[in-house]
Formats: sequence, structure tokens, C-alpha cells
Amino acid sequence: MTTRTLKTLIRSIPASDGAGVKLRRSLGQSDAARLDPFLMLDEFSSENPDDYVAGFPDHPHRGFETATYILDGHMLHQDHLGNRGDLKSGGVQWMTAGRGIIHSEMPQQDRGRMRGFQLWINLPAREKMKPAGYRDLQAADIPEVKFPGGLVRIIAGAYGSAAGPIGGGSTDPLYLDVQLEAGATFSHPIKDGYNAFAYPYEGELEVGNDVLHSHAAGVLSVKGEFHAKATKATRFILLAAKPIGEPVVQYGPFVMNTRREIEQAIRDYQDGTLAAPARAT
Ligand code: CO
Repeated sequence: MTTRTLKTLIRSIPASDGAGVKLRRSLGQSDAARLDPFLMLDEFSSENPDDYVAGFPDHPHRGFETATYILDGHMLHQDHLGNRGDLKSGGVQWMTAGRGIIHSEMPQQDRGRMRGFQLWINLPAREKMKPAGYRDLQAADIPEVKFPGGLVRIIAGAYGSAAGPIGGGSTDPLYLDVQLEAGATFSHPIKDGYNAFAYPYEGELEVGNDVLHSHAAGVLSVKGEFHAKATKATRFILLAAKPIGEPVVQYGPFVMNTRREIEQAIRDYQDGTLAAPARAT
């Protein structure tokens, strides 16, 4: 059976976003460092409140989806539609910006560890202007499956007969969070042609003949199943999705197909109509 090999490495670099939140950015650190349909992956992890407490005050998005996964800590999100959700450890917010959302994401703690990921997933042209929406998933909504030497949490897609709360759609994403003891292995089939990467955030993985160290996205070859071994206690996320294959034009929090559409998004934001519900004419 074909197994996926490590094709390229996108090492995370220190970055800051929102009101100065310190994070590590792997995917999305440059236009070249994307993996269709994944646009960006930020890992935030700190014991120091100065690194995160200012949070992400009101900001817009258009044209894609965001998945915020809280490993440790407590984050409140609010948006212009009046939605409000409280994300706790182990929870995920899956947000479809569609034509536009203005929201804030604010830590609800001023001490202790805050750790998690924000992933941006692109939408195809035909869905970029659909109405905004989101799902709040608490830890209990995310199935966990134990196997010899490890545990997998299924945020999106399926593992064996266990299906995560998110699935299907035009990009059909897989989002697994895997814990392995030293010496344990993990295998998972991924559909041929789907783009995939693994990102260890503790420990390291052997993938084929290569070692993938923590805090780097290891982009995998496009065919076969994923197989990895932990040389020490390791935690990693595994992402896969169907590529969209369309041009990507990004300007900050707007991701469209053309410059014209970006200019329109900026005008709509300035006019206050970016995130307004579509009006019948
Ligand atoms: Co946001």
C-alpha cells in the first residue's frame, strides 16, 4: 500500500496578530506557504498573559472559513449578528465568514496557559458570498477514540466508524488531534488527491524515513494513507481536504479570487455593508 511521504516542510515563524497576540505561523506566512484549500495555520501557546490577553478585538472576514481549536484556556467570541459563544479547553468554533462577518475573539483569563490553533480554510468562488454562520463545539461534542498507544479526537471528517461534528461540504475537511505514547504508531487513510499535512505541537513524528519536529507543518505527498510513528510522547494535528484549484487573492482578512473582489470587500467594509444581511431588491 502507498503511504504518504513528507514532501515539504513549513517551519513556523513567530508572528503577532489581533491586538498583539504572539503566535507561531506556519501556513500563511507567505503566499507560497499555503496548501490549497488551507490558507493559514496559527499556533498560540503561552503561559504569559502579556502574550495573549489583548486578544482579537472586532475585525472582519470574507470569503473563507476559520476553525479555532482551544487546547488550554478560555475564549469568548462575539459577532455582529449577536452571536456569542464561550470556547473552553477542548472546544472548537467553526466559522463560515462567507460574504462577511465582524467578530471578536477575546481570552477570558488573565493568568495561566492559553494554547490552541486557528486554521483558515478557503471557500470556492460559488460559496464565498454565502451568508455567515458558525458552530460552537464543546469538548463533549468531539468524539474521542482510543487505540493501542494513543488517542484521537475527531473534529472534522471520520476516523474508522467515528465521525466528527464537521464534515462534507466542498472541501470535505479532515481535522484530527492525535496523542501518541513513545513508540506508538498511527495510520489513517486519506483520499487520493486530497492535500494533507501534519503539525506536531509536542514531541516529534517519524514519517517514512524523515523526522517531523514540533512546530512545523509537514506537507505530505498526495497519494496513499498517512502513517507515522512517535519516537517520544507526541501530540499532533492531522489535516486533509479537497483542493479548490482557483486563484487566491488575499488582503489581510479578505480572501477572494480577484483583486476587484478584494477592492469590493474593502469598500463594503468601509460602507458598513460587508457583514450586513443580504437585502432583497
Ligand atoms: Co477572526
